[in-house]
Amino acid sequence: MNVFSTIDDLRQQRWVDPTSAWGLIPTMGYLHEGHLSLVRQARRENDWVAVSIFVNPIQFNNPDDLTHYPRNLEQDLALLRKEGVDVVWTPAPHEIYPPDYQTYIDVQKISQRLEGAARPGHFRGVTTIVAKLFNVFQPHRAYFGQKDAQQVVVIKQMVKDLNFNLKVIVCPTVREPDGLAMSSRNVRLSPAARQQATCLHRALTTAKSAFEMGRHRAAELHATMLAVVNQADLARVDYISVADPETLSELETIEQRALLSLAVWVDDVRLIDNIIVKK
Ligand code: PAF
Repeated sequence: MNVFSTIDDLRQQRWVDPTSAWGLIPTMGYLHEGHLSLVRQARRENDWVAVSIFVNPIQFNNPDDLTHYPRNLEQDLALLRKEGVDVVWTPAPHEIYPPDYQTYIDVQKISQRLEGAARPGHFRGVTTIVAKLFNVFQPHRAYFGQKDAQQVVVIKQMVKDLNFNLKVIVCPTVREPDGLAMSSRNVRLSPAARQQATCLHRALTTAKSAFEMGRHRAAELHATMLAVVNQADLARVDYISVADPETLSELETIEQRALLSLAVWVDDVRLIDNIIVKK
């Protein structure tokens, strides 16, 4: 496994074998089974697999969140070596954003809803770094988890609008045995908060059952999810949404499919999760 930090070194390696298929998994490190499931799928579908590890400062709207974001490069590299990854890129912030940096990518409408409304500027940071990664690596396929449902929708829109010549592959959310979606942030949960963090998945599955029993009005599903989260005394809802999975606009009634999603503070850790329901 080759580990590079500079763009020049990485580009040299990338073009050693120009005809083979490259799969890229962009990450912010502190890797868990969710990331590794993306790596395994990329390994099956490509000749070369590259992983980027970069805690992207411009997608954090809250400086405290950036400071506390967990990091462990040695552990990440050991995990990636075991998975047979070919290339890891760990750029320094000044290589990505030199002092005179001035260019940002802003996907308009769909970036402003849900996470975008709760975390102003977040998706501008995500699309800017992902566009840069796509430019540097020029992968054939890029892998993202469904756990960040809106991120996937926004990145797909950017790929379409900017004519990136690659396929975005979306992989299912990987969960702990009790249903909690895997996330690098879970490590920050206290034991009590960790127990109560299952309320997100419970809220989603309770709403899904209600939907399957014929409750198709968004307001009812919203109330169902809120009631479940409110049972956990350390949990505080940031938002709950029943939206169109493509446009992310809020629905009144579910005709075909809907993205049920929520963001919840459990103690001082903000968690997100989602599920898609369909008739
Ligand atoms: O999902 C993430 O970890 C990040 O948003 C990403 C896509 C690596 C961009 O920094």
